[in-house]
Amino acid sequence: MSNGAAGQPADPCVMVIFGASGDLTKRKLIPALLNLAKDGLLSEHFAVIGVSRSEMSHDEFRQKLRGDAEELGASSFDQETWAWLEPRLYYLAGDIGDSDAYGRLRALMEEVSDRHGAKRNYFYYLATAPRFFAEAVEQLGAAGMTQEDDDRWRRVIFEKPFGTDLDSARKLNQDVRKVLSERQIYRIDHYLGKETVQNIMVFRFANGIFEPLWNHRYIDHVQITVAESIGVEERGGYYDTSGALRDMVPNHIFQLISLTTMEPPVSFDADAVRDEQAKALRSITPMTPEEVLQMTVRGQYGEGVVNGENAIPYRSEKGVPDDSTTETFVAMKLTVDNWRWAGVPIYLRTGKRLPGRATEIAIQFNRAPFMLFRKTDVDRLPPSRLILRLQPDEGISLSFGAKVPGPVVHLDAVNMDFKYKDYFGATPSTGYERLLYDCMLGDATLFQRADMTESSWKIVAPIMDVWKALPPRNFPNYESGTWGPKAADELLTRDGRKWLRCAAC
Ligand code: BG6
Repeated sequence: MSNGAAGQPADPCVMVIFGASGDLTKRKLIPALLNLAKDGLLSEHFAVIGVSRSEMSHDEFRQKLRGDAEELGASSFDQETWAWLEPRLYYLAGDIGDSDAYGRLRALMEEVSDRHGAKRNYFYYLATAPRFFAEAVEQLGAAGMTQEDDDRWRRVIFEKPFGTDLDSARKLNQDVRKVLSERQIYRIDHYLGKETVQNIMVFRFANGIFEPLWNHRYIDHVQITVAESIGVEERGGYYDTSGALRDMVPNHIFQLISLTTMEPPVSFDADAVRDEQAKALRSITPMTPEEVLQMTVRGQYGEGVVNGENAIPYRSEKGVPDDSTTETFVAMKLTVDNWRWAGVPIYLRTGKRLPGRATEIAIQFNRAPFMLFRKTDVDRLPPSRLILRLQPDEGISLSFGAKVPGPVVHLDAVNMDFKYKDYFGATPSTGYERLLYDCMLGDATLFQRADMTESSWKIVAPIMDVWKALPPRNFPNYESGTWGPKAADELLTRDGRKWLRCAAC
């Protein structure tokens, strides 16, 4: 892993953002740069060039970003940090498809780099719609803007989604590799930027007590919940072409599964870690069509009440057709077919307009042979569980049985609870800080490698095929503000299990 813990400023460089007038730049990238700057993690020799189609001067770009940062940061907006970043922001109006724009961009990059002493190190952030990724890379290559020489590096960050299915991901990998080598490619998944997600590896491999239990001999099953109470908000147009499966599963949720199930890497080098993650993903056997029918559930929200407010049905959201069959909820049962995980089901669910926002991984251990406590109410005692709360209220809790004080033996479940904020305080973070910082240091550990993206799409491919061949007839099939369709509960009750209540909901 990078030396981020040591708090060294990143390399001198210029960051070029394609899609600079978009939402990601405003909501995530600029706030992340401000947080990095505040922590002294950006080089003094750092600058940003925003590129998008609208005409704007450098000053207008700065003013727009300042307004956005003030609005979003509200009380945390820091005048001093802004004053540091502002003169490092530049803008160029240009179209990704227009080769002339690249000549102008190159001239501006050289001018900005020389002015700030950025040593002509460049990284491009493709914060655009994915259909522009291949073209942008091809144009950058044709203009000689991706070639590394001497000590000058060139890197490209690709925002999610990387492809929309296996074929398009393969094609995109092939296209970008005509221009870039794999070590110049940074496929982002912002879940890997979350501290709590990074902590899964530390928790497992830096502590001697959990890893010996981390296998089919002691674990009954794993549940992963990524619940959102929001609907599709302003993104109906995009979301309707994607759906919950594509939007969340092959990327965010598979990152969580691979970190939870991977073998210990031989080191924390990017490839050592990613080799193990890739191996874990390869161990998930894609489902047969019959298995898709039995082991997956899809849903779409109708109207309902979320957090005390009335919510409209998905089909009435802006940009969504009123007969849409796009799913806003997915649940499934997967198995990781290797020695460690044989027979341990992994249940996952994710959806919009659920009762609350919570991302949690629950590890449920086997029941103890309770012969000793036969005459007590032990059957009602839940098995020991370890819950990794990734957001919100970040923390880890372990629940187990304890004797209720008194002359008669009664057992009850108790909880040991660790909260990040109690130990480390709450640091504002967008999840992008670490990823941008690592890219500037050339550390790709927290980015997806080509084989990982392809393995992920391979797992979801049969699900997408069956779902496409059999359009849902019962949508909408869950009320906003509930935990998805009934079938999601049945997926577990069939196995004699049930979804755990999220701590945060
Ligand atoms: C994005 C999805 O990648 O992740 C969104 O496109 C989703 O639909 C978001 O809301 C969830 O991210 P987070 O960080 O809020 O859990």
